[in-house]
Amino acid sequence: MTREHITTHAHRFIDKVLAKDMIAVDGTAGNGYDTLYLAQRAKAVIAFDIQPQAIEATRQRINGLTNVTLVLDSHANLAKHVQTMDLIVFNLGYLPHGNPSIITQTSSTLDALKAAIPLLKDRGHLLITGYRGHPGGLDETLQAVAYLSAHPNLSVMDAYTYDEPLAPLFMAFQKRG
Ligand SMILES: C[S@@+](CC[C@H](N)C(=O)[O-])C[C@H]1O[C@@H](n2cnc3c(N)ncnc32)[C@H](O)[C@@H]1O
Repeated sequence: MTREHITTHAHRFIDKVLAKDMIAVDGTAGNGYDTLYLAQRAKAVIAFDIQPQAIEATRQRINGLTNVTLVLDSHANLAKHVQTMDLIVFNLGYLPHGNPSIITQTSSTLDALKAAIPLLKDRGHLLITGYRGHPGGLDETLQAVAYLSAHPNLSVMDAYTYDEPLAPLFMAFQKRG
C-alpha cells in the first residue's frame, strides 16, 4: 500500500471543503506551510502560534499575501481573535527545526477545541493531525480525538494514518447544528 504523507492527506481534504469565499483558521502556524495552503484557497486566514519565530517564518512563507492575519497567541485564546470560521486546522506537535520542548499541550489543545466548535459554522470542518510518537503526543492525540469523536455536534468525515508504530493520525470532523 502506498504511504501518503500526513500533510499531503490533510491538504487533499482541504481541497475538498475549502472555497474562495470562506474563512479558515490555522491553529498552529509553525513554518507557515499550512497557512500558505489555506491562504491560496480561502477569502481570509487567521493563523496562531505562540512562538515569535513561527509567526515570522509564516510571514515570510506567505510572501505578501494580504488575506492572512497572524496572531502571536495560544490557540486556547481563539475566541478573542476569531468571530466565525468555515474551517479550522490543527497540526499539533513542535516547530520542525525549532525547539522541540515548545510543543502543543493536551490541556491547551483541548481548550482550543472547545473554543473552536461554537465558532465553527454549520457544515464547517475541523481538521486535526496528532503526532503519537512525540513526547506527550500519544496522550494529546487520544484525548483530542476522544473529545471530538464524542461531541454531539460533530461527525467524523475522514481518518488517516499509516502502517507504522505510533504513526501520525489525521482526522476530519464536520459540524452539524
Ligand atoms: C507541527 S508545528 C505546525 C506546522 C505548521 N502547520 C506548518 O505548516 O509549518 C506546531 C506548532 O504549534 C505551535 N504551538 C504550540 N503550542 C501552541 C499553542 N498553545 N497555540 C498556538 N500554537 C502553538 C508550535 O509553536 C509550533 O510552531
